[in-house]
Amino acid sequence: MDNAIRFLLDGEVIAIDAPDPTGTLLDLLRYRMRRTGTKEGCAEGDCGACTVALGSLDGETVRWRAVNACILFLPMLDGKALMTVESLSKGGTLHPVQQALADGYGSQCGFCTPGFVMSLYARSIAAEGTEDVPVGDVLAGNLCRCTGYGPILAVGEAHPPASTAADPAIVAALKDLRRAEPLSLRHPERTAFVPRTSDELSTFVAANPDARIVAGATDVGLWVTKQLREIDSLVFVGDVADLKAVEETPEGLGLGANVRYSEARASLARLHPDLGELVRRIGGLQVRNAGTIGGNIANGSPIGDMPPALIALGASVTLRHGEARRTLPLADFFLAYRKQDRVPGEWIERIDIPRPAPETLVRIVKLSKRFDSDISSLCAAFVLPIVDGTIGEARVAFGGMAGIPSRAPVCEAALSGRPWSAETLDAAAHALREDFTPLDDLRGSSEYRLAAAGNLLRRLWHEQAGVADLAHV
Ligand code: FES
Ligand code: FES
Repeated sequence: MDNAIRFLLDGEVIAIDAPDPTGTLLDLLRYRMRRTGTKEGCAEGDCGACTVALGSLDGETVRWRAVNACILFLPMLDGKALMTVESLSKGGTLHPVQQALADGYGSQCGFCTPGFVMSLYARSIAAEGTEDVPVGDVLAGNLCRCTGYGPILAVGEAHPPASTAADPAIVAALKDLRRAEPLSLRHPERTAFVPRTSDELSTFVAANPDARIVAGATDVGLWVTKQLREIDSLVFVGDVADLKAVEETPEGLGLGANVRYSEARASLARLHPDLGELVRRIGGLQVRNAGTIGGNIANGSPIGDMPPALIALGASVTLRHGEARRTLPLADFFLAYRKQDRVPGEWIERIDIPRPAPETLVRIVKLSKRFDSDISSLCAAFVLPIVDGTIGEARVAFGGMAGIPSRAPVCEAALSGRPWSAETLDAAAHALREDFTPLDDLRGSSEYRLAAAGNLLRRLWHEQAGVADLAHV
C-alpha cells in the first residue's frame, strides 16, 4: 500500500516516503531540501516569514493561496502544487515584486522579505483571499520590524491582483496526482489518514475515535511546534470536498465544516457586515487561508472568534457519527472548558446560520491588544430585535468571559421586552456581573473584561443614537 505523499514543486513531482505526519513543510524545505529562502520567525503562524504558495486543483484550473509553512503538516501537501521564494527567481532573474522591493527600499535585514515576496506574489496572481481587499489586509500576517511598511505597501499597490490562466502542465500534473483511494500513512511513531469524502472520514473516525481531526492546523500546529506534543493518530480533512459547500439562501447561510475563513468571508459579510469584519481580523491571511469555520468550533477555545457571533445569531451545528446525524444549537454544544456535547467518533459536518430579520440590530465586536492578527481579549455579539422602540428577545454572547463561549442570560433578561434606551443598556451592562466571573490572564484582567463588555453594550446606544462615532474605539 502507498505510504508516501506526492506534490509538485516548480512542476516536478516530489515524493516523500513514510513522512512524519506532524513534520512541517518548513522543516522539509529548510533541512531536507535546502530551500532556506523560506524563514522561520515564530513557528506559530504569526510572522509570515515562512509564507509559501500552495495550489490545489479546481476543475481545469489551480487555486493558489498563501499559507504558513511552519504549521503546515506534510500530509496536507499531498496532491498540491507548491511554490517557494526560490521558485520566483529561477534562472537568476528576480520576479517583478522582488525587484520592486529591492528598488523601493522594501527590505533591510531581509529576514522577513521572502515572506513579503510570497504574499505579494500571491496577491499579484489573485490568489485566495486577495481580491477586493486592501493590500494592508493581505500583508497583515507578515511582520517586519526594521524597514517600515510604507515601501512594502507601495510595492503591493503597484502590483494589483490580476487573474492569470493556470499553467496546463501544472493542471495535468495535479490530475495525475489525484488519488483513487484515501491516503493512509504509517510512520514509526504515528499514523495519518487523509480521506477524500465525508463517508470515508465518518467511517474512519467512528472506528478510530481517538484520532485527532485536523483541518487547517492553525492551532494543532502549535501543539507540535510550541508545546512539543506527540499526536499518535491524525486525520487530515482538508481535502474532503463534500464538506466545502457554501449555501446562501433567503433563510440563512449553510457552511460545510471544511470551508476556510477566506472562502467563507464574502458570504458571511453578506449575512452581516460585522461577520465579514470579524473574519478579516482572524489571524493573518495565511491563517485564514488554512483555518476552517468547523475547526474553529471543534477546537472549543473560550477565545475562538467565531462561536460568540454564531451563538448570538442562533446558529446550529450538525454532528455526524457513522451514518447518524443530529443537529443542535451551537449555544448548547459547548459544555465546559474544552468539553463539548460530542461523543467519541462524532464530528462536525455543517454549520447553519439564520439570516437576522431586517429590524434586528446586530453588532459583533472583537477586542484585542493589536488590531490585526491577534487573539481576542474579548469577543461580543449582540442580536437585538427592536420593534417600535422595544427590544424583543435579545441574544447576547461573549468569548473570553468564561471557560466556554456562552450566552449571557441575566443580561439578555435585562434587555428583552424593555425599551430601547440608555437606561436599559446600562442596566444590561451591570447585569453582566451576574453572568460572568472572568479570569485574569495576559490578555486582560477580570475587571477589564467586565468593564469592557459592559461598555460595549453602552456604546451600542451611542452608536445608534449618533451621540458619538465610537465605532473604532
Ligand atoms: Fe512565523 Fe511561520 S515562522 S508564521
Ligand atoms: Fe523585515 Fe528586517 S527587512 S525584519
